[in-house]
Amino acid sequence: MRSFGVASVAAGLIATASLFVSSNAQGADPIVIKGSKFFYKTNGTQFYIKGVAYQQSFTGATAVKGTSNNADYNDPLADPSGCKRDIPYLKQLETNTIRVYAVNPDSNHDECMSMLAAAGIYVIADLSAPSNSIDSNDPHWDDDLYARYASVIDAMQGYTNVLGFFAGNEVATQPNTTASAAFVKAAARDMKSYISQKGYRTIGVGYAANDNQYIRTSLAEYFNCGDVADAIDFYGYNVYSWCGQSSYTSSGYDIRTEQFKTYSIPAFFAEYGCNTAGTRPFTEVAALYGPQMSPVWSGGIVYMYFQEANDYGLVSVNGNSVSTLADFNNYKTQIAKVSPTGVQMDSYSPSNSAASCPSVGGNWHAASTPLPPSPNKQLCDCMTQSLSCVVSPSTGSSNYQDLFGYVCKNDPKGCGGFQANGEKGTYGAYSMCDPAEQLSFAFDQYYKSQGKASTACDFKGAAKVQTPKNSGNCKALLAQAGKGGSGTVTSSPSGTGSSSGSGSASSTTGAAAALSVPSVQNGILPMAFIVVVAMLSGPLMLLL
Ligand SMILES: *[C@@H]1O[C@H](CO)[C@@H](O)[C@H](O)[C@H]1NC(C)=O
Ligand SMILES: *[C@@H]1O[C@H](CO)[C@@H](O)[C@H](O)[C@H]1NC(C)=O
Repeated sequence: MRSFGVASVAAGLIATASLFVSSNAQGADPIVIKGSKFFYKTNGTQFYIKGVAYQQSFTGATAVKGTSNNADYNDPLADPSGCKRDIPYLKQLETNTIRVYAVNPDSNHDECMSMLAAAGIYVIADLSAPSNSIDSNDPHWDDDLYARYASVIDAMQGYTNVLGFFAGNEVATQPNTTASAAFVKAAARDMKSYISQKGYRTIGVGYAANDNQYIRTSLAEYFNCGDVADAIDFYGYNVYSWCGQSSYTSSGYDIRTEQFKTYSIPAFFAEYGCNTAGTRPFTEVAALYGPQMSPVWSGGIVYMYFQEANDYGLVSVNGNSVSTLADFNNYKTQIAKVSPTGVQMDSYSPSNSAASCPSVGGNWHAASTPLPPSPNKQLCDCMTQSLSCVVSPSTGSSNYQDLFGYVCKNDPKGCGGFQANGEKGTYGAYSMCDPAEQLSFAFDQYYKSQGKASTACDFKGAAKVQTPKNSGNCKALLAQAGKGGSGTVTSSPSGTGSSSGSGSASSTTGAAAALSVPSVQNGILPMAFIVVVAMLSGPLMLLL
């Protein structure tokens, strides 16, 4: 389905390049990271994010034609008339950054991106989409997600006003979902590596966290700790603790600031603007950009531009007309009063070092090492080809739950090769493959355990025998994956943004929350979730 690939990236680059030539205003000076701060690359002035979250929640009624493949989000950067309508208002708010939550990699972003660049506005984009993100309750980092994330990077990296990417938004949200942090960190690791393998400009990859009292310290440490190649590049913090006429101390901003004083990478509010006290006076702006916080934080992003049912809007938009709301005027007054100067890049010598990793226990359930394996489509293909018993093509994915339950109950050990446990840090080599590949693997393991008896590859017609292949490149990969998937594959993944894959059973619904923050997630449970629950709840699965 994705026709996106090298050709369209090249076209995008050429378009961007020609705009750059025709008018200097189009070429934004990239933002770079040094220590725990952002800077304009060319003149070394510190960059403070004065941001606004910019994406309408999706309802059928707000659908903008052509901005989403899946028809479950509008990509605001693919809507030039919307950008043209809104940029003057963003400018009134001195906005230098917008945050978008879901980008359609197949759309053309040239017009919006160049209008934004001309207005001095940078973009931080989430890599996931509502139907394709890491799920808090059933986390995976697999081929489909890898392809989705990489395709967004491919689509956006050519614009110099892309400030960074988020590998996840509010995924590990409370103690019992912290294991998901391992998968998000693996995603950040792989996307950083993807950017460098592709020879793209260095663009930071971060995480946007919610503010949960039980895990906030560990969460910030976890993403920053360990091998720098695995760690995120910046930390976005969604903080809603300053409500109405609060203060530096009663909002808890003082304690948050104390915590991040020693943080070694940039930290900023990836969302803020509590509305529980009614119309927002935005008095926190003076604190955030003032003398106590500006040495520690790199600014913040107000949630959000559009007025919707959740009542967080700065403006209300109706077709082509925009009406500013009381919150707009209040924020405008406050942001006009601040002018943090920060430090000059050359004269800044970072002295903070990376956090140490939180240990598993209490409220924290994500092992720091190893992280989940890199999705590797080639390995999964090789594995499937090497099997003697596989899922037959006529078997619908709605039957997988029962089939996994059945085969793994009869042969628990055979299912270990695709198990993933973020708390223990144990990952079968095939834990990043898709459910069909994993089920084939389970069938094959069972078939072999039965000495390839002809009755052992049937499963009421759900399985079929095939002639196994293990050729050339596959040999080495499969050797690394080891017997029963118990090994560790160290070869780089071969997947790219142009690889196929969407709408499969491993798609998840986590990012839906991003579009209606801070409400809770909802949506239909994906197949993979049901499968894993079924597997984990089978008594014999405890043997795994
Ligand atoms: C540095 O460059 C940025 C972007 O071009 C500009 O907005 C800023 O004012 C410059 N800083 C100084 C001190 O001139
Ligand atoms: C975490 O707890 C919530 C209830 O607060 C529950 O709905 C959810 O399924 C739990 N998730 C996991 C992974 O245990």
